[in-house]
Amino acid sequence: MSGRVLFVTGTDTGVGKTVAAAWLARSLARDARVALVKPFQTGVADPARDGDEAFYRAALRGTPVTIRTLVSLPEPLAPSIAAARAGAPIDVAAAIDECRALARDHDVLLAEGAGGLLVPIDGATDMADFAAALDASLVVVARPSLGTLNHVALTLEAAERRGLAVELLVISAYPKRAGVVERENLRFLRSRRPDLPVVTLAEAPLAPPDPLAGLDARAHGPASPLSGAIARGESSG
Ligand SMILES: Nc1ncnc2c1ncn2[C@@H]1O[C@H](COP(=O)(O)OP(=O)(O)OP(=O)(O)O)[C@@H](O)[C@H]1O
Ligand SMILES: [Mg+2]
Repeated sequence: MSGRVLFVTGTDTGVGKTVAAAWLARSLARDARVALVKPFQTGVADPARDGDEAFYRAALRGTPVTIRTLVSLPEPLAPSIAAARAGAPIDVAAAIDECRALARDHDVLLAEGAGGLLVPIDGATDMADFAAALDASLVVVARPSLGTLNHVALTLEAAERRGLAVELLVISAYPKRAGVVERENLRFLRSRRPDLPVVTLAEAPLAPPDPLAGLDARAHGPASPLSGAIARGESSG
């Protein structure tokens, strides 16, 4: 594989992986050939219309980012369960091959998981295995609110046990007027992991025609090649 692979996982479903992945793709596409992939999409009939791919397409209109959904299943369940119920087993090896081919043809492949890191893809493979098969580093996306410290700690501990490097922590939907919970959570995470670059993506309308317009991104902690181009946000509020 020539290009580097970043696997965008989250502390849960619905935490902002798609927003973060699209934002990263757009940032990186300024000086790199980028592919953005949703390998396993569930809960949609037409991924280009109602899946994460639809958000990617709206957010990245006018950029040369390659966008793909590899497997799509109609029920909003973990991929292994959605596949079993649909009678359509997931060919994980084929998805790995497709990602490797895209990584060969691009400088960066961003792959967004479904749900969190230990979500099952089939009886033998979870998202962490998939990321490992691609030699990926992780981008972990988390919510800013109460409960996030436990979920971030669980995810980072699982990543370490599975030998996956975490390159960036993204906290999405960070309120413009952060309260004590969000400010203290960010402060705690930075003090607990001073080595880990953190980006906060502010709460934004994410509305058409350019959903990422005005998405305020701030870098905290050590600089990261992934967050180098954005504003430093030491105020954390
Ligand atoms: N920075 C933000 N500003 C406003 N809303 C946000 C922001 N980040 C995430 N959201 C909202 O949170 C919800 C979930 O975000 P998103 O779809 O990115 O999560 P996800 O982790 O990709 O979910 P899934 O597990 O379904 O793929 C969406 O409604 C999205 O608009
Ligand atoms: Mg998503």
